[in-house]
Amino acid sequence: MRILSGIQPSGRLHIGNYLGMMEPAIRLQNEGEAFYFIADYHALTSTHDPAVLRENVRGLAIDFLACGLDPEKATFWRQSDVPEVTELTWILSCVTPMGLLERCVSFKDKIAQGVSPSHGLFAYPVLQAADILIFDSDIVPVGKDQKQHLEVTRDIAQKFNDRYGDELLRIPEPQIREETATVPGLDGRKMSKSYDNSIEIFEETEKKLRKKVMKIVTDSTPVEDAKDPEGSYLIQLYELFASKAEVEEMKASYRAGGTGYGHYKQQLFEKIWGAFEPMREKREALIADPDYVEDVLQNGAKRAQEKAREVLDRVRKATGLGR
Ligand code: ADP
Ligand code: TRP
Repeated sequence: MRILSGIQPSGRLHIGNYLGMMEPAIRLQNEGEAFYFIADYHALTSTHDPAVLRENVRGLAIDFLACGLDPEKATFWRQSDVPEVTELTWILSCVTPMGLLERCVSFKDKIAQGVSPSHGLFAYPVLQAADILIFDSDIVPVGKDQKQHLEVTRDIAQKFNDRYGDELLRIPEPQIREETATVPGLDGRKMSKSYDNSIEIFEETEKKLRKKVMKIVTDSTPVEDAKDPEGSYLIQLYELFASKAEVEEMKASYRAGGTGYGHYKQQLFEKIWGAFEPMREKREALIADPDYVEDVLQNGAKRAQEKAREVLDRVRKATGLGR
């Protein structure tokens, strides 16, 4: 079973990225042949400063390794070190109907936000399809917001197979974990860099993390009154880190009244800080050893490239390209 996932290097990682994509991906490295990459070609659609892009890639590689990606088990590389994927993107573009891309919500969202779209942004899902299909991937662990991109990938693969031959491209399955499908941000909307509502997993200091947690939006129920645990983002976040019993205790305390939200936020802060403690230590060691991190990515790229070539050769042959 081949498991594949990618993540864009677009700034620091938040709890949504960690629980939605990284933690499941890291767990799955024990259950099959895992392939994980840093999607720097994709980041080029939004990051236009070369120094920033390079720094984001480096930071993400460190964070992924710190969180438990094991290069002995998983192949881990920088997307642009395997440029074969861009060739497959072109080939897939020629079986992709415009309408399929025009329907993509993430594209429409960007337009709604006032982004002036490049062709790269429009074609983003085709590159993502190539990422997945070039490795004959079976399973793709991602957050819920990637569901549509996975459907597009399956559609493109099917269209390609219909035109050139059954089973040329393997049709992948998304894997979306329901309990963390959408981690709420400080304001209750989906936690996302673009909403400025994130809690980063590696906030620089304890003080900064506490300050962030204190910003979680709550209602204005006075300290002494009973509070409603239903729909409380604070509790939804607490549930991601605390045991069932601890969550029940917090809910009971909400209902009893007499305790202010600040107290609950402090409890949540302690859980989050504690959860990432071992990873922070590992991260410091990796920051001090940039050559090791680059070696991991280079070795990964070599392995990934071998697999990618196999599929690309098969596709070139089927389409009539080359000799
Ligand atoms: P952002 O929305 O902050 O820009 P990305 O789009 O780069 O995050 O997402 C990277 C990965 O993290 C994807 O697999 C995505 O599904 C997952 N992810 C992002 N935000 C969340 C969230 N709030 N809850 C669950 N998963 C998330
Ligand atoms: N689009 C994904 C995101 O924003 C990143 C990504 C690129 C990806 N290529 C992929 C995820 C292939 C899974 C498989 O999170």
